[in-house]
Amino acid sequence: MKRKNNLQTILLISLAMSATLCNALPLSTRGRWIVDNAAGGRVKMACVNWVSHLEPLVTEGIHAQPVERIAETVKAMGFNCIRLTYATFMWTRADYNNRTVAQSLDSFNLTQAKEGIAGNNPKLLNLQIIDAYEAVVNELGAHGLMLVLDNHVSKPLWCCAREDGNGFFGDMYFDPKEWIKGLTEVATRFKNNPQVVALSMRNEMRGPRSNVPDWYRYMRKGAKAIHKANPKVLVIVSGLNFDKDLSFLGRKPFGLTLNKKVVFEAHWYTFDFTQQWQQLPPNRACGQRADEFQRDAAFLTTGDKAAPLFISEYGINLEETSQVDSRYFTCFLPTVAEKDLDWALWTLQASYHYRQGHAGGGESYSVLDYSWSKPRYPQFLERMVILQNLIQDPKSNVSPYYLLLHAQSGFCVNVKHNDVVSVSSCRKNRRNSRWNHEGDGSPIKKLGRKHCLKAVGDGVPLTLSDDCSSPRATWQLVSDSMLQIAAMDEQGNPLCLDATPSSNSTPIWTRACACLNNEAGCDPLSQWFKLVPSNIA
Ligand SMILES: *[C@@H]1O[C@H](CO)[C@@H](O)[C@H](O)[C@H]1NC(C)=O
Ligand SMILES: *[C@@H]1O[C@H](CO)[C@@H](O)[C@H](O)[C@H]1NC(C)=O
Repeated sequence: MKRKNNLQTILLISLAMSATLCNALPLSTRGRWIVDNAAGGRVKMACVNWVSHLEPLVTEGIHAQPVERIAETVKAMGFNCIRLTYATFMWTRADYNNRTVAQSLDSFNLTQAKEGIAGNNPKLLNLQIIDAYEAVVNELGAHGLMLVLDNHVSKPLWCCAREDGNGFFGDMYFDPKEWIKGLTEVATRFKNNPQVVALSMRNEMRGPRSNVPDWYRYMRKGAKAIHKANPKVLVIVSGLNFDKDLSFLGRKPFGLTLNKKVVFEAHWYTFDFTQQWQQLPPNRACGQRADEFQRDAAFLTTGDKAAPLFISEYGINLEETSQVDSRYFTCFLPTVAEKDLDWALWTLQASYHYRQGHAGGGESYSVLDYSWSKPRYPQFLERMVILQNLIQDPKSNVSPYYLLLHAQSGFCVNVKHNDVVSVSSCRKNRRNSRWNHEGDGSPIKKLGRKHCLKAVGDGVPLTLSDDCSSPRATWQLVSDSMLQIAAMDEQGNPLCLDATPSSNSTPIWTRACACLNNEAGCDPLSQWFKLVPSNIA
């Protein structure tokens, strides 16, 4: 599917590029945060996935654009990091790594990919595949991007089927010794490249062999091996059941901190939860999924053993977004913004040299268009801005305040010069989008002023008022999602914040709260808002 793109938006995005690109590397952990080694300030990983583990073992997209162009496009889209996948066999088996890029493509009859690489990345074509992988990593690093190198599979192939021989220790292709050898090779190879900030241990462990005792046994061994070979790099520890389950760590801690290098990772898609999203009313489905995510993974960021959590995959079909994906993503965004987790979006690659027996296929989850030269859906990237921003920093001495996020648009509620309350891009007017709120039943005050949000009526724009004690100006979280924010009129009818942004600056209304009783068929998404705690100057 081809769509038009808006060049102006791309330019705007490039101007707004995040400042987190020049960090003092390497990174370490400090409680639940990833921090730089020098000043100990937060470094937020806002990554995008990029595939390099499929059968030909050639990084996707290098036939379409020079690597440096792709790096610049990634930065212009607001990401500061790439989770680049690889397959273990590339490092451990001569019959996989004894080929050049050209030879490998030839063996799959990928003539067009080969011609494309000859045109766009001629230097890579006759390198051995490991050297080509390293050259791509170095080029991305030279452009200031941080890299997470992800052990995605052992045998190069599309991931992840339950029983594809790559799922768990002891599976046909997943020999723990060979896996540790691979991890050690990668850790050693990139020891002197500070832009390689993290190695993740294994993507989506799964299948009938999965069990908790072996998980501890081998994951500890693997983590120690990486740390020994490369003590500077973060070690990202993945869970069970397609990386959705880390709950067992609540009963028995991992037991290694590796001098403040251990980070955990989890995935959060709609897969396996489609029925939940289809059948439950949206407020209930979101409330449940957020609770489950907390129970299965995000709990790791709390308590006295808190560690960072990296959501290493999440995303939606952007080409044809289903109702399920739309609900999921509108739930995901505020839930993750509130915790300000680190993450990697699925995905960058717009196409595949060769995937599941097919050459040149497209990727409907990709943020890029098929030419790999520009964003395909600028509006989706606008929704990513809140997550790309640094929201919380443990070293900040700014008093905490709230951003008020409209989840469906990804826009923030802010105040214009003439006190008009509207929603617009979270990248602008940050001073005008700061709020104070002392909890349920209290007003939402503009930071530094005595004025607060006041509901006027159903379908009427919200105002900024100095009458902050009225029931119309005291707000509480309602509904099973806790994402609707309501005040009462004199008759006790709840009025919820509501917006349907059509342009980059849309007034915000209150409307009768939708779906409070989970009525069949009703849709509250335009009323999903989140008070997101922040402390950034
Ligand atoms: C790589 O090794 C395999 C298995 O030994 C062999 O069949 C193949 O010809 C080799 N390829 C190259 C390019 O040397
Ligand atoms: C490549 O083409 C040759 C000749 O047409 C064919 O025998 C072979 O199976 C093809 N290989 C792949 C991986 O498609």
